[in-house]
Amino acid sequence: MTNAELERMVDTTDEWIKARTGISERHIAAEGETTCDMAEQAARRAMEAANVSLDQIDLIIIGTTTPDVIFPSTACLLQKKLDIHGCPAFDIQAVCTGFIYALTIAEKFIQTGSAKTALVIGAETMSRIIDWTDRSTCVLFGDGAGAVILQAGDEPGILSSHIYADGEYEDLLNVPAGISHNSERFKDGTAFVEMQGNEVFKVAVNTLGRIVDETLAHNKLGKKDIDWLVPHQANTRIISATAKKLDMPMNKVVLTVDKHGNTSAASVPLALDTAVRDGRIKRGDTLLLEAFGGGFTWGATLINY
Ligand code: COA
Repeated sequence: MTNAELERMVDTTDEWIKARTGISERHIAAEGETTCDMAEQAARRAMEAANVSLDQIDLIIIGTTTPDVIFPSTACLLQKKLDIHGCPAFDIQAVCTGFIYALTIAEKFIQTGSAKTALVIGAETMSRIIDWTDRSTCVLFGDGAGAVILQAGDEPGILSSHIYADGEYEDLLNVPAGISHNSERFKDGTAFVEMQGNEVFKVAVNTLGRIVDETLAHNKLGKKDIDWLVPHQANTRIISATAKKLDMPMNKVVLTVDKHGNTSAASVPLALDTAVRDGRIKRGDTLLLEAFGGGFTWGATLINY
């Protein structure tokens, strides 16, 4: 869906959207296409790229805020689609930080020897919780899925993970209805993303600045040691503020928000996949992944790819 299509739906312009967010287009799931359908495609492509077979997968975690149904979890639905049986499979709900949370949990499973080959996914159909008459939110989001395979090895691939949350900020970004609260809005399909964009913007920039500093200090690394920043794709202005904090030129930052919009938990793995497949990210590169989202939740992962 291009900005031009949105111009026909709400009072907005291509210029405003590009200038304030950097977004030119986003993808919207087809009617009947679910979060799990997209997760399956991402999972199969990740397994193919990693040369891993279905019978090796012994853990499935999906970061999602838009599961297909209340239960079973999207991870269990995916397990069925993939015809995998028995391994633990569960969803993590940390909104836009969902993938960083999922990756962090999978890393702990692998470190403790509880899993050897984890399938970790971020997948969302944000379009289903957007009010398509609200120009302040509908121009921002998109649908998608990205996946990685995390495997036990002799050398650490994940150098460190840092995840946080502060529920104090609930009012700034939420969908204020669900199963046990305002359930009538959930049932009549008017449970939509509500956001005080300006306030979220300020907290996001400050918080992401702090977490990248913390991640570098924890690993005793300097700014020059990072080869690629793979940030959550919400807004190019937030991303460039973080890059500036790292003294990183924008050609060392993976940017996909222009083509994907904000796909919540899918955004970091989609960006990672894009830069791995087009050859920018190479084996041995040091990657800093970071995200910020509803909750608020935030986190960063440092990777030796
Ligand atoms: N088209 C045209 N005008 C729009 C618009 C749109 N799609 N959406 C809002 N506006 C208007 C507002 O009504 C406001 O008009 P006013 O000044 O007459 O009141 C004006 O643009 C400025 O709005 P404001 O919200 O202050 O703009 P902004 O520069 O903060 O940009 C966001 C808005 C949402 C792009 C920006 O705040 C943002 O990206 N926030 C963070 C969002 C985010 O990352 N959320 C997810 C976290 S994971």
